[in-house]
Amino acid sequence: MSKAPIGIFDSGIGGLTVASSVSKVFPKESILYFGDTAHLPYGEKSIDSIQKYAIEITEFLLEKGCKMIVIACNSASAAAYELLSEKYGNRVPVVDVISPLVELISSKSYAKVGVMATKATVRSDVYSKKLMELKPGIEVVNLAAGLLVTMIEEGFFNNDISNAVLHKYLTYPDFEDIEALLLACTHYPLLRPEIESFYKGRVAVYDSVDSVTEKIGRLLKLKNLRNESDEEPTKRFFVSDYTESFEQTTRIFYKNKVNLEVASL
Ligand code: DGL
Repeated sequence: MSKAPIGIFDSGIGGLTVASSVSKVFPKESILYFGDTAHLPYGEKSIDSIQKYAIEITEFLLEKGCKMIVIACNSASAAAYELLSEKYGNRVPVVDVISPLVELISSKSYAKVGVMATKATVRSDVYSKKLMELKPGIEVVNLAAGLLVTMIEEGFFNNDISNAVLHKYLTYPDFEDIEALLLACTHYPLLRPEIESFYKGRVAVYDSVDSVTEKIGRLLKLKNLRNESDEEPTKRFFVSDYTESFEQTTRIFYKNKVNLEVASL
């Protein structure tokens, strides 16, 4: 089992921010990535639909022999983490992207934090609930940034258009006195340089990538699932619908090793 790939999924390219970190920190691990491009954006979908997609993708990844399931999407983590853990947790470890970031933030001394996320994640109020559970009294302000995922999937980041859109969101009046901003969507790390240059150090910016990677490392060790073999690890990328921009962005992370495979669920 330890040689088996880690299964990672998202609605599109966002989860690649997690996958590429996992490949960097654990270079011996094989990765099987699924981008559900046919159903993107998840942020606009109902809980029922997201749960249905999450189950189908998990079944697909398990059929391919994955040893761990990483829900590299906040919207899917908010809608389906408990469900997937209940259904598959006795077969493989299931990891979400929300709890590790919440644990990290609750260990800090922030009194007020902003959460920028998709509509589905904001609707679930999951960050407020989980943060207040671990740190009663913390003030959490949510902002649904509906435009960002499609903009990023189209390859619009680090340009004047993404800058203008971000400016509109980040000047949200309730964000005025936040001490930290949580990028609560796995697509947003692609905008992180622009967000940091907007704040110029006034606000601490967090995404889930490092804390999730750490959690994956802890679980691999705890469950004896680390790949110790010297064989070249495999990287496979599946999408439910081919898009050119997905292929291009995947190459930003994985250079020329990318060969997209289409798998309809
Ligand atoms: N990367 C997903 C997330 O973290 C984006 C969801 C979407 O497709 O809207 O929420």
